[in-house]
Amino acid sequence: MSDTTTSYPARLDFLETQRQDNWWVAPLATGVGLFAFIVYATWGAFVGDHYQAGPYLSPFYSPLFLVDWWPLSPAFLILWVPGGFRFTCYYYRKAYYRAFVLSPPACSVGARPQRYNGERAILLFQNLHRYFLYPALALVVILWIDAIEAFFFSDGFGIGVGTIVLVINAYCLMSFTFGCNSLRHLVGGNVDCYSCVKFGQQRFKAWKVVTFFNKNHMRWAWISLFWVGFTDLYIRLVSMGVITDLRII
Ligand code: FES
Repeated sequence: MSDTTTSYPARLDFLETQRQDNWWVAPLATGVGLFAFIVYATWGAFVGDHYQAGPYLSPFYSPLFLVDWWPLSPAFLILWVPGGFRFTCYYYRKAYYRAFVLSPPACSVGARPQRYNGERAILLFQNLHRYFLYPALALVVILWIDAIEAFFFSDGFGIGVGTIVLVINAYCLMSFTFGCNSLRHLVGGNVDCYSCVKFGQQRFKAWKVVTFFNKNHMRWAWISLFWVGFTDLYIRLVSMGVITDLRII
C-alpha cells in the first residue's frame, strides 16, 4: 500500500535509491542480448550454407560475393560493414561499455575505480564510425533491392511470409541507419545558418528526416538487431526444409 503521507522529496529519494539498487538490470539485459546476437551471427556467418531460399537471400550474406579466391564463408566479405557500423555506433558504444566493462554501469552509479582515458589509444578506431556510414548507406539500398526481389518467385510475382520478413528487415535497417548521429551531422547538423548555405532548404528537410529517426535510435538499434537475426534464421530454416514458407499470393 502506498504511503500518501510521504513527502515528495522523500519519495524522490526512495525512487533514486531503488534505481541505484537496480542499476545492474539494464547492463545485464544489454550484455545478454548483445552476446546472444554475436554468438548467433558468428555461427550463421561461419556455416556458409543455407543462406538462400527461393527468392530470399539472408541479409548476413547480402550482397552475395561468390569468388574462387576467397576460402571462407562469403558472409565475411560483407559482414565487416554492418558489424563495424554497429560496433562503432554511439548508442552501442554506451551500451557495451556499460554491459561488458561496467564503465560506468549506469547514470549516476559510480564506476569501478580506474583511470579514465576516454576513447584514446586503441579506442581511437571508434572514430571510423563516420566512414562506416557510407557503405552502410549503400547496404540499405541493397537490402531494399533484396526485399523487392523477394516478390519474384520462379513461377512469377508473389508474396510469401519471407517476402514480408525481408521488407520489414529493410525498413528496420533503414530506420537504424537513417537515425545515425554521423548522418545527422553530415546532412545538416554542422550548419549554423540554413539560409546562408547552398541547398539550405533541402539540407534542413533532410536534417528533419534524420532527426525523426534519431529520436528513437536506441529502439531501432535493438529492433533492427533482433530482426536481422530473425530474418537469417527464417531463411535458414526454410532452406533446410525445417519450415515451409507460406505463400500468401
Ligand atoms: S550513431 Fe548509431 S549508427 Fe551512427
